[in-house]
Amino acid sequence: RIVYVNGAFVPEEDAKISVFDRGFLFADGVYEVSTVLDGRLIDNPGHMARLERSLNELGMGSPVPVAEIPALMEELVARNGVAEGMVYLQVTRGAADRDFAFPKDATPSLVMFTQARSVADTAAARDGIKVISAPDMRWARRDIKTVQLLAPSMMKQKAKDAGADDAWMVEDGFVTEGTSNNAYIVTKAGSIVTRQLSTAILHGITRAAVLKLAREAQLKVEERPFTIAEAQDAAEAFYTSASSFVTPVVEIDGAKVGEGRPGPVAKRLRELYIEAAR
Ligand code: PDD
Repeated sequence: RIVYVNGAFVPEEDAKISVFDRGFLFADGVYEVSTVLDGRLIDNPGHMARLERSLNELGMGSPVPVAEIPALMEELVARNGVAEGMVYLQVTRGAADRDFAFPKDATPSLVMFTQARSVADTAAARDGIKVISAPDMRWARRDIKTVQLLAPSMMKQKAKDAGADDAWMVEDGFVTEGTSNNAYIVTKAGSIVTRQLSTAILHGITRAAVLKLAREAQLKVEERPFTIAEAQDAAEAFYTSASSFVTPVVEIDGAKVGEGRPGPVAKRLRELYIEAAR
């Protein structure tokens, strides 16, 4: 695989990052995951806008102007011949002698790699997935897409160990989001419910696109928090992310949602999203 590291496209075994890089030592970095469908990046302007926002929130620069990153991503996709999959990109504050305070003179690092895999046609989309609930142990600025991912990684592993696929994290009695996705339910009255934007969740790029498509399709959308009990009793549940589009959730903490099968609203939104992307 060819990866990108600080200005160069190199075989992955030749890529080098300093052991003093603050991404490695302090999780002092931000990232984006963009999807490739039919060889093209989808929703990428949204990912670039969020990258810019994450960098600004942390007072971090990018070694390459953000406006020039999409062309580098496209080149990486082409060099690796990726038809379907992801581009992962990460900007860290750079290498400096270890100190909690931000260094004055560090040069930020940019690394990118691709992952080829099916995204449009997956077992998760066809059959739906199972989630467990778990306390949200993350920090208070989840709107910044930092590489500080140990808490969601632990929750995801806890879900796998329990025979489920993902965890929906709960704070003060309400679902915040999934470990790497935004969470939704469809009420028996047909409303799509998802938590409103705040510092408690990541402002999903797929979330914005899907809510727009839902409203255009005259579906009712309510942006408010919901509980695990309300989700278990809902007609449908699903989640969204760049890598999973719209994925039905058919079981929550062992209780079937609706009939325990992917529901019509999640299926329709997934189709609308893929159609719009293509
Ligand atoms: N995850 N919430 C969290 C905590 C996330 O990490 C993600 C994305 C989302 C969905 O955001 P978007 O629709 O912009 O992908 C919500 C990416 C895909 C990841 O970490 O792999």
